[in-house]
Amino acid sequence: MTILVTGGCGYIGSHTCIQLIKQGIDPVIIDNLYNGKEIVLDRIKKITGKRPRFYQGDIRNKDLLDTIFKENNIKGVIHFAGLKAVGESVRKPLEYYDVNVYGTINLLDAMKKAYVKKFIFSSSATVYGTQPIIPYIETMETGEPTQPYGRSKLFIEKILQDLSIADQDWSITILRYFNPVGAHPSGLIGEDPQGIPNNLMPYITQVAIGKLDSLAVFGNDYETRDGTCIRDFIHVMDLAEGHLAALNYNDTQSGVNIFNLGSGQGNSVLEVIATFENVFRKKLPYHFAPRRDGDLPAYWANADRAKKLLNWETKLNLHDMVQDSWNWQSKNPNGFEE
Ligand code: NAD
Ligand code: WQD
Repeated sequence: MTILVTGGCGYIGSHTCIQLIKQGIDPVIIDNLYNGKEIVLDRIKKITGKRPRFYQGDIRNKDLLDTIFKENNIKGVIHFAGLKAVGESVRKPLEYYDVNVYGTINLLDAMKKAYVKKFIFSSSATVYGTQPIIPYIETMETGEPTQPYGRSKLFIEKILQDLSIADQDWSITILRYFNPVGAHPSGLIGEDPQGIPNNLMPYITQVAIGKLDSLAVFGNDYETRDGTCIRDFIHVMDLAEGHLAALNYNDTQSGVNIFNLGSGQGNSVLEVIATFENVFRKKLPYHFAPRRDGDLPAYWANADRAKKLLNWETKLNLHDMVQDSWNWQSKNPNGFEE
């Protein structure tokens, strides 16, 4: 079976391609390499023995998408491609709506033309907005994300709902990821942010490797058990497995199905640091800094629905996440740049 993976050279897409190949599924990748690296394909081959077929290009390119559907017997699409930096989305809203919203519409249109109507979409816990009701559960109304990135995910979710009402042949799975971290245990692939990382785990590992001086912990006066924010961290390998489970489920369903992909529990920023120090066997330089605009104090997933219907749950814990993040960073101090 062949599956089109958009954004397959990126962080979550590359890990998912490995799990697909392990299950005997052929991923075909489209990626414009805006934030992904071609060398990822060699690393996937090193791990699995198979280099996925790759089209370098943009999901907004209609002709390229038509060609890909003509040249491959694609049964479904897992759609990772998009822009994902929350802060940048505030500065560049048009780019975010263009790539994320228009790019997705363009992809769906090409799928429709090719009679491929199985679709798995990378959404985010950000669609729950700023609601203080935790844990987040799929039966809750979506909220009001406070930035263009989050709104782009919410708009796409609405578009997918409308599409499934208009044409019941579609089978659409929306996966709402919580906080993906970690890397493949081989240390051959992992998250490779451009410039100074925005997210906690790559920031920690870059401080540990000596590229950055000290981690600023944004806020220690939240009403949480230790004053720092709480998030639901999920190992990227567990997340990748979640896509396989969704693919199996998607085969037997129509309409739109929504799943949280999280561990179902929260850890604070200080707990992540303490776990890291345990793995690293050294103190991590950090200091407290003011709260970061837009951060919520605490949220995590209710992950029961995925457990019940997808027969999927996370297997790896915070220690595994930290260990594999550090393994990747220490083996590749400059990411994919050799
Ligand atoms: P990533 O940036 O590592 O991967 C995205 C890939 O898409 C990159 O390889 C990039 O080059 C490619 N891409 C971007 N624009 C493209 C375009 N116009 N045409 C073709 N390819 C394009 O990001 P990731 O962390 O792997 O995230 C994958 C998806 O999951 C994204 O949609 C993201 O919004 C979503 N998501 C990520 C997180 C997270 O914390 N990493 C959390 C929730 C949801
Ligand atoms: C986690 C915690 C920070 C960096 C983001 C997106 C979300 C989703 C996942 C895409 C927070 C604290 C961080 C640092 C810190 N992405 N922190 N110092 O903001 O929970 O989620 O990624 O869909 O939409 O918003 O993740 O890793 O940035 O932050 O103290 O240098 O770590 O304040 O409490 P976040 P994060």
